[in-house]
Amino acid sequence: MKEKKSSEDDPTIEFQDYLDESQLDAVMQLVTKDLSEPYSIDDGKPIGCVVCKIDQEEAIQNGEQRMMKTGYIGMLAVQSSYRRRGIGKSLVRKVLERMKAMKCESVMLETEMSNVTAQKLYQRSFGFIREEKLVRYYLNWGDAYRLRLWF
Ligand SMILES: CC(C)(COP(=O)(O)OP(=O)(O)OC[C@H]1O[C@@H](n2cnc3c(N)ncnc32)[C@H](O)[C@@H]1OP(=O)(O)O)[C@@H](O)C(=O)NCCC(=O)NCCS
Repeated sequence: MKEKKSSEDDPTIEFQDYLDESQLDAVMQLVTKDLSEPYSIDDGKPIGCVVCKIDQEEAIQNGEQRMMKTGYIGMLAVQSSYRRRGIGKSLVRKVLERMKAMKCESVMLETEMSNVTAQKLYQRSFGFIREEKLVRYYLNWGDAYRLRLWF
């Protein structure tokens, strides 16, 4: 079977770190889902983004309290005309590698129960597990799953 090429090997796609606020407009447009105008890959504008953070959480281990680093993926979006090319997977892979390198013990996120695509991406491609069902989690009263990956 021919191995599927990763979007990281595609020379037309550049992965950029967050640098400053000048990128925020583009990020907001991506996560607002319905873009008024499609972006072209040639003009250098972002076609996908992942927004995440690292928190310190208290944990009890063997009766002792300790701090534990937990990664959190807040948003992931790829412009619709560029989906199914592995870009979402590459973005997630990159943040997981960094979170692991920064000594996170796990990574979590919430996804709408109806968002089968996101669940497939996180569960099948990376091994996230369903940790909790969150009833009426979103402002639109949609239910969510909390997914977690333990390193
Ligand atoms: C979720 C999203 C970021 C995926 O981006 P993408 O670049 O298309 O994802 P990839 O091409 O890397 O696909 C990764 C995996 O996700 C799953 N997947 C992606 N699109 C899918 C679809 N339309 N139907 C079923 N599974 C799908 C597949 O398991 C796929 O792996 P495979 O191609 O090896 O089968 C994109 O669909 C999106 O922006 N959706 C709207 C925003 C959103 O729902 N964000 C997640 C919130 S938690």
